[in-house]
Amino acid sequence: MLDLRDWLEKSESVGGVRVIKGLHWDMEIAIAANRRLMGDDPRAYLFDDIVGYPGGYRVLSGATKTAQQAALCLGIPETATRKVIEATRKKLPEWEAAARQSKFDPKVVQTGPILENIDSGKDVDLFKFPTPKWHELDGGRYIGTTCAVITQDPDNGEVNLGTYRIVVHDEKTVGLYISPGHHGRIHYEKYHAQGKACPVAITVGQHPLISNIASVPVSFGNEYNIMGAISGEPVNVIKEEITGLPIPANSEIVIAGWCPPDKMRDEGPFGEWTGYYAAMGPAPFVEVERVYYRTNPIMTGSGAGAGAGQNIVPGIMMSSMVFNGLENAGVPDVRGAWISNFAGQMWVVVSIKQRYAGHSRQAGYVASQGTPASAYHGRYVIVVDEDIDPTDIRQVLWAVATRSDPETDIEIIRGAWSTPLDPTIQRPTNRFVNSRAIIDACRPYEWINEFPKVVDVTNLELVEKVKEKVNKSE
Ligand SMILES: Cc1cc2nc3c(=O)[nH]c(=O)nc-3n(C[C@H](O)[C@H](O)[C@H](O)COP(=O)(O)O)c2cc1C
Repeated sequence: MLDLRDWLEKSESVGGVRVIKGLHWDMEIAIAANRRLMGDDPRAYLFDDIVGYPGGYRVLSGATKTAQQAALCLGIPETATRKVIEATRKKLPEWEAAARQSKFDPKVVQTGPILENIDSGKDVDLFKFPTPKWHELDGGRYIGTTCAVITQDPDNGEVNLGTYRIVVHDEKTVGLYISPGHHGRIHYEKYHAQGKACPVAITVGQHPLISNIASVPVSFGNEYNIMGAISGEPVNVIKEEITGLPIPANSEIVIAGWCPPDKMRDEGPFGEWTGYYAAMGPAPFVEVERVYYRTNPIMTGSGAGAGAGQNIVPGIMMSSMVFNGLENAGVPDVRGAWISNFAGQMWVVVSIKQRYAGHSRQAGYVASQGTPASAYHGRYVIVVDEDIDPTDIRQVLWAVATRSDPETDIEIIRGAWSTPLDPTIQRPTNRFVNSRAIIDACRPYEWINEFPKVVDVTNLELVEKVKEKVNKSE
C-alpha cells in the first residue's frame, strides 16, 4: 500500500524523520530543508505547527535524499549509491515487463483515506494548506514541487503521472508549467486542439514512490503499473468524481479541475533544478473544482538550486535507464552510467571497457540521444574507461583532463531537445533546442597499450606490510 504515513514509520530504519515546529511558510521551511545552508542531516524533515496554520497541517521534505532512503523506496537491498544503481538497472526490465503484461494494473477501490475531507466549488480554498515559498524570487507559492499531475490521453485513454511545477495563483486556480514533449503537455494540447478543457488531478502529498516515478521518463505506458511492479502490489486508486481520473486512494492532498483551452496566465519566476530561476511567462492553469485531503494532511515538497536537488531517486532511475539503453542499443561492456546529482542529465558519465576503435564514440552518441532520460535537457556526455568511477567527479575530471584531446575528442550535436528551463537559451525565442558535447575521455583505443601507465601502487602485499609497520610504530 503506497501510503505516506506507512512510509514515515518504515523510514525509521533509514534515518527516520525529524519533526520541526513553529516555522513560517515564507522561506523559513525552505531554508530549514536546504542542506547547503543547514548541513547534511540524513533525516526527512516534517514541518508542523506552521505559523498561521492549524497544527497537523504539515509539510514533508527530503524523504529520499540518501542512498538508504532511495533503496527503501525502490525495494532494493543495497545501501551504496553505485550498488543501488546497479541493482535498479537489473530490476528495471523486470518492472517494465510486469507493467507491460498488466500484472500491476491499478486497482479501483470505492473508498480510501483521501476521501476523509472534500471541499467542492465555493468551498475550495487552496490557501488552506501551508504551501511554502521555496525560493526568494519565486513568483508565488508552489504547491506542486514533489507532486504528480494526473492526465489522460483523449485518444487512447492512457493515464500519465508527471511531476510538473504547480503554483497557487489564487484560492481556486493553480498554474501548470509543463515543458514541450512531456506527456501531460501532449495530453492538454490534444484536448485544447478539440476546443475542450483538459481534466487534471494533482496529488501534492503522497508516498515518495509515486512522485519519484512521476518524475522520470518511463516511456512504457502507465506509471501506476511501474509503481505497482516496484512495490509488489497494485496501487489503489479512486475514480475522481468530476474528472473521472484515477487518483491514489492513500494520497494526502489531491486537487482536481479543468485546464481550459486558449487561456494562459503568467507563471513564474521559479527557482528550478538547474540552479537558476526560470523566467515568468504565460502558462496554462487549472480551475480547481475539488480538493480532497486527509485529516491532518501532509504536503510533500522541496526547493531547488544549490543545496537542494536532494532527491536522488530520479537520478538513480535515469542512470539505470541510460545504462540499459546502451545495452539495448548493442553497446558492449558498459560498466557504469551516472546522471549527476549536481546538474542532472546535463552531466552524464558513462564508463566502458573498450573493445574496438569507435566503441567510445558509439557509447557517447547513444548515451546522449538514445533514451529520453538523457535526450531531454542534456548537455555534456563524458565517456570514460572502466578504471574510472563515473559517480566520482574528481576521477571523471582527471580522465577528461588527461585522456582527451580537445581538438579530436569532443563531438558536437546541434539542435537537440531542450526546454525553456535551459539557462543558456536567450529570449525572446521559440527555438528551445541546444547543442550537446560528447567528450571522449577514454584512452585512445588505437594505441591504448602504449598509453602512459597510471601511477598507482599495485603491490597490495607491500601495502599490507607497510600498514602493519605503520600501525606497530604508533
Ligand atoms: C522535482 C522535479 C520537478 C520537475 N518539474 C518539472 C516541471 O515543472 N515541468 C516539467 O515539464 N518537468 C518537470 N520535471 C521533469 C519531469 O517530471 C520528468 O521529465 C518526467 O519524466 C516527465 O514525465 P512525462 O514524460 O510523463 O511527461 C521535474 C522533475 C523533478 C524531479
